[in-house]
Amino acid sequence: MKRRSVLLLAAFSGAATAAVSCDADSEKPSSGNGAGFSNSLRIPPILGPETGADGMKQFNLTMQAGGRTEFQPGKVADTWGINGAYLGPTLRVTRGDKVRMRVTNQIGETSTLHWHGIRLPAKMDGGPHQMIEPGATWTPEWTIDQPAMMGWYHPHLHERTAMHVYRGLAGLIIIDDDNKPDLPSEYGVDDVPLIIQDKNFEDDGKLDEDGVEDGTWGVLGDSILINGTFGAEFKVTTRTVRFRILNASNARVYRVGFADNRKFHVVGTDGGLLERPVEVDRVKLSPAERAQIVVRFAPGEQIVLNSVGETERSAGDPEEDDYDLMRLITAQDLADSPDLPSALGGVPATAPPAGARVRTFRLSGSEINDKEMDMNRIDEVVPAGAHEIWEVINTSYAHNFHIHEVDFRVMELNGHPPPEYQRGPKDTVFLPKGATARLSVKFNTYVDPVSPYMFHCHILRHEDKGMMGQYVVVEPGTENQVARTINAGSSGGHHN
Ligand code: C2O
Ligand code: CU
Ligand code: CU
Repeated sequence: MKRRSVLLLAAFSGAATAAVSCDADSEKPSSGNGAGFSNSLRIPPILGPETGADGMKQFNLTMQAGGRTEFQPGKVADTWGINGAYLGPTLRVTRGDKVRMRVTNQIGETSTLHWHGIRLPAKMDGGPHQMIEPGATWTPEWTIDQPAMMGWYHPHLHERTAMHVYRGLAGLIIIDDDNKPDLPSEYGVDDVPLIIQDKNFEDDGKLDEDGVEDGTWGVLGDSILINGTFGAEFKVTTRTVRFRILNASNARVYRVGFADNRKFHVVGTDGGLLERPVEVDRVKLSPAERAQIVVRFAPGEQIVLNSVGETERSAGDPEEDDYDLMRLITAQDLADSPDLPSALGGVPATAPPAGARVRTFRLSGSEINDKEMDMNRIDEVVPAGAHEIWEVINTSYAHNFHIHEVDFRVMELNGHPPPEYQRGPKDTVFLPKGATARLSVKFNTYVDPVSPYMFHCHILRHEDKGMMGQYVVVEPGTENQVARTINAGSSGGHHN
């Protein structure tokens, strides 16, 4: 029996463990009835900004080590967090806001902080080039200019992202705008973020870091944390709840739904709302993907949010990965909720123009187009405002593909339109073994020929192994004058 399976039983000791698999090959967190899920779901606090004399909303973020987190009662794990012991606060901003992030690095080693899904100049992006040395403060600033969505922030240091995220550095960014369809919207009550992460724990409750920087997948944990809560339980007090789900796991893919297979509606994807709700019974989320869903409840229910079925992450055939994520208990009296609107006001897709440039990216092993990441090499030069087709061909085991600074639409997956619930604005697409995706990608106009944006697999072990490339956005017509080699030492934003 593997140690992990033993740990799992220990973690749930006292609870009914009959449903917990303990066969030798299993890395399942648990499956079945949600027994043992009794810790109140933690809701990441919203960080109020300071408003400076210049009208900027300033968010002070400190990346810190030395956190002591009791994921399991009486057992302390050493964790990292942002303004806290584990994970970070939710940053809530409105389209049009001018924001300044004051990011101080107190983790004792170099890192970066990237704003995933946020549209902004490359120097402010917090990718591998915007390194923050220990003790230093980095202060990027930009204007929020994109539709309402949920993004997130996490370190992006080249070759060290997996460990920094695994130890706890991640948080949410929620953008609001003037399009306010009648959806549940009280944060933490009926508009609830769910940051899903899988971890392995040692017997003494410490995070097991074995494997995070090894092997094909890095870590695949057998315990689930939701918002940093182990064995999470959420008390439903309203007829419907919107969950904003983020897969912030290093490698695991989930097919999220409910143990009773109830149907629910997807209302948003990575980059914002859909045009109209789409009814489903499962949403598949690979690392970094998000979904906003609206679920209807009846009084006095006990339901389990779970992940079941094939997730296609393995190098061989798809694997069944069934386990519980969270238990939900509904009140006897549920407050009324708005009826689900038939139109959500999400931005419609626009087709790429005839003759749009097609770029091809072949994923194999942990390489893209037979290359590993080189901080000094510019792989692609994109004219500002271009609307292109990026074709991503996965010739090997499961990967996904994330592009910084864009919203894209998945036009085709294996020659067919993707499931309807995935047709909203995206920044990350899952590519099962052997899959091909055609993406319609509209680029922004923040030109900077020497500061690249990244595109990469968001399975963090793959990203750290170099499954990443760099593109710059330049003034149209200047593509051929751009140097393909840059000095990776240059960084952006103001450091002090
Ligand atoms: Cu979530 Cu390149 O990032
Ligand atoms: Cu990103
Ligand atoms: Cu990958």
